Amino acid sequence: MNKIRKAVFPVAGLGSRFLPATKAQPKEMLPIVDKPLIQYAVEEAVAAGVTEMIFITGRNKRAIEDHFDKAYELEAELEAANKQALLELVRGVIPKNVNCIYIRQSAPLGLGHAVLCARPVVGNEPFAVLLADDFMDTERGTKPVLAQMAEVYDYEKCSVLAVQDVPRENTRQYGIVKADAYRKHLELVSNIVEKPLPDEAPSTLAVVGRYVLSGAIFDHLENLGTGTGGEIQLTDGIASLMRAERVLAYRYAGQRYDCGSKLGYLEATTAMGLKHPETAAGFQAFLAKLAKENGHGST
Ligand code: UTP
Repeated sequence: MNKIRKAVFPVAGLGSRFLPATKAQPKEMLPIVDKPLIQYAVEEAVAAGVTEMIFITGRNKRAIEDHFDKAYELEAELEAANKQALLELVRGVIPKNVNCIYIRQSAPLGLGHAVLCARPVVGNEPFAVLLADDFMDTERGTKPVLAQMAEVYDYEKCSVLAVQDVPRENTRQYGIVKADAYRKHLELVSNIVEKPLPDEAPSTLAVVGRYVLSGAIFDHLENLGTGTGGEIQLTDGIASLMRAERVLAYRYAGQRYDCGSKLGYLEATTAMGLKHPETAAGFQAFLAKLAKENGHGST
């Protein structure tokens, strides 16, 4: 089995950095302009050839299930009002050949535990993991990030982690890899640590929310047992996998926004608001007016 057909979306986190917005809904339902984060991530997976979407849900699961389900009442209302364009928009949220599967993570026991919950559905195949709160934007003409990684997988046939350089003072927010030069944009991972202190980090190369993982990761996660706070860390599973098989770090082409943080979310909203055909011109004018009022305008 060579192609990546399945993607796992862990959406069972507490989203504590975004309370109270995440009190009754997962943070992955926060919209960037007019689409929830989770829909952008699913579209990225579709663009990479994935057809099985596996959501690891938690206590606030309903909004995501409803979003990807048929909306009978809404569709009937739009049809009756002859709002064809909106009807197409609602019906086209997910392509017809794509299946959605929902698995409940009984308690938020960590990202590694969430991924392990997907084992009965993924089996032994390579699969993708997308953290939808890491919002990825790519330039026109550049493939979406997961599609870039699927291409690397096609060629290398091993696990691939999306990485980017971060300021050293921020290493505590990421899994950090130590890696050796391998090929253009690719490095061979020789060490990976979860959230190291700046002066203990083996490098400043951080893993971000896109992974292609070999099916072997499940055995490694299962054998870990629980770590600090009763959680199972995906980083620890990858550290163990890396000792058994090749794991590559891929410097992706694109811009990442950490939409689990308030500032990252505002940055993503601003960047996309300036690109969206319905808002670009008006939003640009508004930002220019704001800048002028605050004394930063060029005129
Ligand atoms: P985060 O570290 O961002 O945690 O999880 P969080 O709980 O979602 O957010 P904060 O830090 O409290 O604000 C990374 C990813 O792993 C998922 C989250 O949904 C997020 O996509 N996750 C984390 C789970 O699905 N289950 C868990 O037990 C933990």
